[in-house]
Amino acid sequence: MSERLEGKTALVTGAAAGIGRGIAARLASEGARVILADRDEAGAVAAAHEIVSAGAIVAARGMLMDISDEASVTAAFTSLVDDGWVPDVVVANAGVQLFGRDAKVADLDLDSWQRTIDVNLTGTFLTLKHAVRAMLPNGGGSIILTGSPTGIRGEGAEFTAYSTSKAAIHGLGRTVAAAYVKEGIRVNTVVPAYTETPLVSAITSDPESRAAIISRIPMGRAGSPGDIEGIVVFFASDESAFATGTLVAVDGGMTTL
Ligand SMILES: NC(=O)c1ccc[n+]([C@@H]2O[C@H](COP(=O)([O-])OP(=O)(O)OC[C@H]3O[C@@H](n4cnc5c(N)ncnc54)[C@H](O)[C@@H]3O)[C@@H](O)[C@H]2O)c1
Repeated sequence: MSERLEGKTALVTGAAAGIGRGIAARLASEGARVILADRDEAGAVAAAHEIVSAGAIVAARGMLMDISDEASVTAAFTSLVDDGWVPDVVVANAGVQLFGRDAKVADLDLDSWQRTIDVNLTGTFLTLKHAVRAMLPNGGGSIILTGSPTGIRGEGAEFTAYSTSKAAIHGLGRTVAAAYVKEGIRVNTVVPAYTETPLVSAITSDPESRAAIISRIPMGRAGSPGDIEGIVVFFASDESAFATGTLVAVDGGMTTL
């Protein structure tokens, strides 16, 4: 264990599956005490057990948090404060992409737009709001957001709601970073490439769509959760003490070449 996060408590939302689950396991292996939060409580608890049984880690716990519901977010942070598990690091990662519903703007129904915005944007806002409230009395902390290439350029032309929510998350990260820089709260955004998780099974299971998206990644392959764990550890740790408000793509060159 390299212990780059020794003494830190880290909360990851959307940690029952995919990228969040990978990040939580990696933060634990770097010495952090981790909280896996998800609207899928059973999945979060099971993932925490798996991390603990994998070996030498400090502690991991799973808990219910539906980021689109302020009462749920408040209850989760209140119980963490009461239990002495105030997070030094919050990875606001949970998100949805409504394949088959999200669409080009003229074809997009209001419900699909609203559901995407409720989870991805309002949910990230609520996570940040309560994370900052918990961190302020502790002298600060590090918040990491999961952005998307669709929020940077026209990658998500068929996904108006998702792409818009991600572009807004990029702006939210900069705004909150600027607002709390004096209080020692840092906010940075990580942008993964297309990553083969349950979120994108509609693409992964369709050879044509899969080949099309991979052809837009200069490195010629899909990402994996492991590809962005290192940058998240960096932003979670004191090694990134001078970095805030940044947007960093670890995307095989998808948005940069
Ligand atoms: N997979 C990709 O290609 C890709 C690319 C760029 C960015 N992202 C972003 O990465 C993040 C993680 O995506 P993933 O691919 O791991 O997705 P995933 O679907 O595999 O996992 C997402 C997790 O979030 C949880 N979740 C969904 N809604 C929630 C809510 N309201 N409250 C709490 N938890 C909720 C789900 O239960 C699930 O465990 C998302 O923000 C996504 O937009 C994914």
